[in-house]
Amino acid sequence: MKLCIIGTGYVGLVSGVCFSDLGNDVICVDKALKKIKKSDIVFICVGTPTKKNSNSADLSQVYAAAKEISKSIKKFKIIINKSTVPVTTGDEIEKIISKKVNKKFFSVVSNPEFLREGEAIRDFIYPDRVVVGSNDSKSQKILKSLYSPLISKGAKFLSTKRRAAELIKYASNAFLATKITFINEISNLCEKTGIDIEDISIGIGLDKRIGSRFLRAGPAYGGSCFPKDTKALVSTADKFKTNLSVVKSVIRSNDLRSDLLSKRVSLILNNKIKNKVVSFLGVTFKANTDDMRDSSSLKLIPFLSKKGAKIKYYDPTGSKKEFKKLKNVEFSNSIKESIKGSDIVIIHTEWNDFKSINFKKFSKNKKLIIYDMRNIYSPNKIKKLGFKYFGIQEASYLYLLLL
Ligand SMILES: NC(=O)c1ccc[n+]([C@@H]2O[C@H](COP(=O)([O-])OP(=O)(O)OC[C@H]3O[C@@H](n4cnc5c(N)ncnc54)[C@H](O)[C@@H]3O)[C@@H](O)[C@H]2O)c1
Repeated sequence: MKLCIIGTGYVGLVSGVCFSDLGNDVICVDKALKKIKKSDIVFICVGTPTKKNSNSADLSQVYAAAKEISKSIKKFKIIINKSTVPVTTGDEIEKIISKKVNKKFFSVVSNPEFLREGEAIRDFIYPDRVVVGSNDSKSQKILKSLYSPLISKGAKFLSTKRRAAELIKYASNAFLATKITFINEISNLCEKTGIDIEDISIGIGLDKRIGSRFLRAGPAYGGSCFPKDTKALVSTADKFKTNLSVVKSVIRSNDLRSDLLSKRVSLILNNKIKNKVVSFLGVTFKANTDDMRDSSSLKLIPFLSKKGAKIKYYDPTGSKKEFKKLKNVEFSNSIKESIKGSDIVIIHTEWNDFKSINFKKFSKNKKLIIYDMRNIYSPNKIKKLGFKYFGIQEASYLYLLLL
């Protein structure tokens, strides 16, 4: 089939490359929409960030793409929206295009994307499900045929109405964000009662109704999707006078999480942060991506910098423009360089690179403290090396807090 992908960011580029690999004729464009004339199917994969000074999704890129597409329809085209958008956005896209084009020449379909950054190609080729929301059966059939190579590899194909597909994406992300926030809150209780949160995660995750994924306690969730999508979902629900109280609490709890972890760093350092040398390992919101959007490091590092710490951060994806203007924050070229001479090592992101660090070799500081926000290390093993260790599961907080 002849496809055109509009927007070649994380989602658009991966979709374009994978559809091409599946034997389709693909054109990818980023802000040069004249090329779409020859395509039968046009994918909108542009960004839908949070609007400034509001919680709702900024749909200006989606609508701009729809306007551009409307200028290039000379024969029947299926316009597929892959961007994550609030329910009823497909209706709006249809309205925009129908200002220029008769409705019989196009169909607007919702086909949300569920890939994860860092696993994008595998997720695209082996998705759990392909959701296609369309109000006409012709487009459903064409889309089923487009995705048939993935369906034959085991992906479930779900056809729904257009609005349902839009909501499935938001509801999925809100549910996953809820799981993370839930286990993070339970870990707070574990710390005060001397319980290892890992036991709880395993204990509840073994229940098939719950499942073990997204139950690792750690920093606040971040990234390009969960923060903006939970907010946009609540905002859409407000518009339809529906109170999504669970999602609202998830957003509030997650916002508080970075403050909570900042306070814990203070407690661990006996409230003496000034002039402390902090080795900060991993600044992206998760491993295997360079994406900094809404990473909790964007709160933790400025907090430490403001309190007068000297921060040497290392990330396998290199230095970040977000920290360029902060006082006493510098990028280290290696884990070793970051740890050398530091008072505390904060492991923020679960990169494989951080899973077997030889702390003894890298640090001559006998009083080195390790704050492992991802529970990567065995507390006992680190303590045997003579270092102080704190993890998310580590009950020592209890004693710190009660002292
Ligand atoms: N990143 C993810 O992991 C992920 C996963 C699933 C869904 N999504 C959703 O997919 C959408 C895209 O996300 P992303 O992370 O790929 O965003 P991104 O910011 O990486 O990429 C968007 C691209 O669209 C381009 N663009 C904007 N307006 C355009 C226009 N008028 N014409 C052509 N190109 C235009 C931008 O230049 C940019 O390159 C969002 O709605 C997001 O929520 C993202």
